[in-house]
Amino acid sequence: MKYFLDSAKIEEIRYAYKNWGIDGVTTNPRHIQASGKPFLTVIKELAEEFEGKDFPISVEINPHIIDSKEMIEEAKGIAKFSKNFVIKIPCTEQGLIAAKSLEEMGIRTNVTLVFTPSQAIQAGRIGAKFVSPFIGWKESSGEDTFQYIKDIVDIYRNFNFKTEIIVAAVRNGKQIVDAAKMGADIVTCGFAVYKESFYHPFTDYGLNIFKDAWDNTEKGE
Ligand code: E4P
Repeated sequence: MKYFLDSAKIEEIRYAYKNWGIDGVTTNPRHIQASGKPFLTVIKELAEEFEGKDFPISVEINPHIIDSKEMIEEAKGIAKFSKNFVIKIPCTEQGLIAAKSLEEMGIRTNVTLVFTPSQAIQAGRIGAKFVSPFIGWKESSGEDTFQYIKDIVDIYRNFNFKTEIIVAAVRNGKQIVDAAKMGADIVTCGFAVYKESFYHPFTDYGLNIFKDAWDNTEKGE
């Protein structure tokens, strides 16, 4: 399963690419806002950072745009900045129409804000590069997400859809494991979620035991 970083902060992205080998980046308007930089500055920075590398970076269109034709124009404008850019389009009817046309034009899309398998089916049918079912938001409202992801994975396998499934809005290591068990192609998490997922207090506890044993063992000549 591939790991994408859900962030628009260049320092986090550089760190995660260099040290964790992340396979791509997903951004959204909230991440861009959190970077504290203007939208264009962030996307130019990302374009430059990964120039010449095959590294998918999802950039979301202006969420105020609701008409497919305008979405397409906006997407074309963003896609011009980098071959790595994949355009995030909301999973509305107009969004799906726009994503279909963009894929036909050779502009890759990530159909985002997906909350049901029926939305995911249409994203697969129209040949989106990626589909992003959100799990954190659903779990927060008390919904099951294990079966939700399993259903999408099973349906995609049944029909041999080429669209890659990015399990998104992931809040903890357990959800990463759930996504992996279900056979999702990709998980996208924030910086802190990955860091926590590499950690267990027993590892530190065990290290202390081993340090103690090490210190009390003759090393020999
Ligand atoms: C995914 O592509 C989204 O950027 C992301 O996961 C949205 O959710 P969050 O910002 O609540 O984590």
